[in-house]
Amino acid sequence: MGWSKLLVWVFFVGLSWSVAAGLGVNWGTQATHQLPPKTVVQMLQDNGINKVKLFDADESTMGALSGSGIEVMVAIPNDQLETMNDYNSARQWVSRNITRYRFTGGVDIKYVAVGNEPFLSSYNNSFLNTTFPALQNIQNALNEAGVGDTIKATVPLNADVYNSPANNPVPSAGRFRSDINGLMTEIVQFLNKNGAPFTVNIYPFLSLYGNKDFPFNYAFFDGGATPVPDNGISYTNVFDANFDTLISALKAVGLGDMPIIVGEVGWPTEGDINARATLAQRFYNGLLPRLARNQGTPLRPSTYIEVYLFGLIDEDAKSVAPGNFERHWGIFKYDGQPKFPLDLSGQGQNKLPVGAKNVQYLPQKWCVFNPNARDLSKLGDNINYACTFSDCTALGYGSSCNGLDAAGNASYAFNMYFQVQNQVEESCIFEGLAMVTTQNASTDTCNFIVQIAASSIVLPSLTVFIPVLIMVLLF
Ligand SMILES: *[C@@H]1O[C@H](CO)[C@@H](O)[C@H](O)[C@H]1NC(C)=O
Ligand SMILES: *[C@@H]1O[C@H](CO)[C@@H](O)[C@H](O)[C@H]1NC(C)=O
Ligand SMILES: *[C@@H]1O[C@H](CO)[C@@H](O)[C@H](O)[C@H]1NC(C)=O
Ligand SMILES: *[C@@H]1O[C@H](CO)[C@@H](O)[C@H](O)[C@H]1NC(C)=O
Repeated sequence: MGWSKLLVWVFFVGLSWSVAAGLGVNWGTQATHQLPPKTVVQMLQDNGINKVKLFDADESTMGALSGSGIEVMVAIPNDQLETMNDYNSARQWVSRNITRYRFTGGVDIKYVAVGNEPFLSSYNNSFLNTTFPALQNIQNALNEAGVGDTIKATVPLNADVYNSPANNPVPSAGRFRSDINGLMTEIVQFLNKNGAPFTVNIYPFLSLYGNKDFPFNYAFFDGGATPVPDNGISYTNVFDANFDTLISALKAVGLGDMPIIVGEVGWPTEGDINARATLAQRFYNGLLPRLARNQGTPLRPSTYIEVYLFGLIDEDAKSVAPGNFERHWGIFKYDGQPKFPLDLSGQGQNKLPVGAKNVQYLPQKWCVFNPNARDLSKLGDNINYACTFSDCTALGYGSSCNGLDAAGNASYAFNMYFQVQNQVEESCIFEGLAMVTTQNASTDTCNFIVQIAASSIVLPSLTVFIPVLIMVLLF
């Protein structure tokens, strides 16, 4: 392709994507092996996804998004919130991570996520004092840099920042959590003053997971649950009820019309009895068509809701503190291949999304239990070691590899470790209990993976920007 053709192409692609509205996804990167960012961006484009939410402002990710026209929410991780309490640091962050990408063919940044679920009760109030000042500094720095009209700072919050009283558990009784009501009020007033949206993560799966009495069908959108009556409204699913509880909480502080973004919503496919592809498919089959027809919720009917699915690709290095399912939220597997049919356009066509293209894998080799091993006394210790440094969550109750026998368990664990270690020979010894094989050890239900090759070609950012620079000169 000649330069001029390439330029026209870059320009056209940028233009054509930026006009469409639609669905977003969360692109998390807590994985031992990652697809090259360019491959992921291609995957987003192949599936018509034109909004993406990141958990940082990583340079290689941003480089790959340059010129794509995809709308981006970049993020400041919780551990940087304290730093952002210093205005000069916030200003520097904005200049290094935001304004730097502001040119034709750069990155179309729409939002800055300040922290990620900072008020989660499991964080023991660690970020209670630093979140609001960080939000203020970042938005003020955006305003000072002259980009505050189009780039808004927001805080993706977990849905437990609001609730309804136990004795009146209906959406209309929603209020901000009493221990942070004052803080939440200040935050939403600040967001409102700057024309920024409220961002909330809503997880029907977690409602079900956390409460054994939760009515199963109420987690989905296809009826079958006893409706919850509330002031003449009949709630048939927990997503609506949750969203409207937030609207009531906002109303109670005088801001009932504030725009709301759903920063995360999704369903995991492994790691719990209810984390499975069939249920994920049921969930998305209910959610996506509603979004496509701008159905809204009972308190905000016929409204477009900006939604980011969680998540794009499985992340095998995430903490499993919330549960074994935590590494399996992807609509795509670790290697960017689809897990189940879902129609992201919300037209209800049961088709597989387009997977990552030209994925480079390690060789077809596995590490398995050596059937000739004599001394099995150290088997448990070795399995534990393997699983401490790799992802064995598929072995647990309710997961796809749960039915394996003792040797199968060992093989699975050894292989996961071997793959994380890029199949180096020394990682398949386990005190003589393991051996390398070229025979695929997968069973009908349990996939023994071969990892993707570490992305070897990382484009220096200059290469990414050259066409863009030339374009700026030309147009
Ligand atoms: C983003 O900002 C932070 C804080 O100033 C900085 O440490 C980081 O390097 C920046 N990222 C890039 C790609 O410059
Ligand atoms: C929160 O407190 C609990 C109990 O004291 C502790 O186990 C946990 O590690 C703490 N979490 C954080 C993020 O500090
Ligand atoms: C937050 O500020 C309050 C009041 O100044 C203080 O008591 C509390 O220890 C602080 N919390 C943290 C996590 O720093
Ligand atoms: C295999 O591992 C799983 C998960 O640790 C365990 O529940 C199961 O009992 C093991 N099976 C055998 C036969 O040891």
